[in-house]
Amino acid sequence: MTVVLGDLFPGRVFADDEDRKGKFAAYPKKRIARLADLEVDRPLEFQYPDDGPHSISFLIRLGTKAGGGVGPDQDIVAFNTLCPHQGGLLRRSYDARWKVAGPCPLHLTTFDLTRHGMVVAGHATEALPQVVLEEKDGVLYAVGILGLIYGYPSNLAFVKEG
Ligand code: FES
Repeated sequence: MTVVLGDLFPGRVFADDEDRKGKFAAYPKKRIARLADLEVDRPLEFQYPDDGPHSISFLIRLGTKAGGGVGPDQDIVAFNTLCPHQGGLLRRSYDARWKVAGPCPLHLTTFDLTRHGMVVAGHATEALPQVVLEEKDGVLYAVGILGLIYGYPSNLAFVKEG
């Protein structure tokens, strides 16, 4: 199957991404929530891709189109909650004013959730790992991870290339 970033990530980061191919870790698909249950700026926590302590993730309807966003307004995204720098916990750090996660409690990195979790300030050099979502018939599913979750040795066994 060919995966094109323009299909996966219709947000603002990849303006010219139609010809680029995507690569993400395609972990097993998991049902997360119903579209109708989400409110703008109210995060919903879930476990993905497993039940371990590094896999706490959150789903958020941003109310603005986002990279990787799904749903009718392409504004629903999900991310892991561990900072990729040294594992600072970003649970409950969502700031609705700026649509960011952070600052990280350890070294103050802040991540832009409208742009695939890219770093906007602080020490981290990698984006916050993004949970790849699919929406079908009003139900949201997690289908993979873009980036390496802090503490994971590798995603290699799950990489899916277009
Ligand atoms: S652990 Fe988050 S910025 Fe260092």
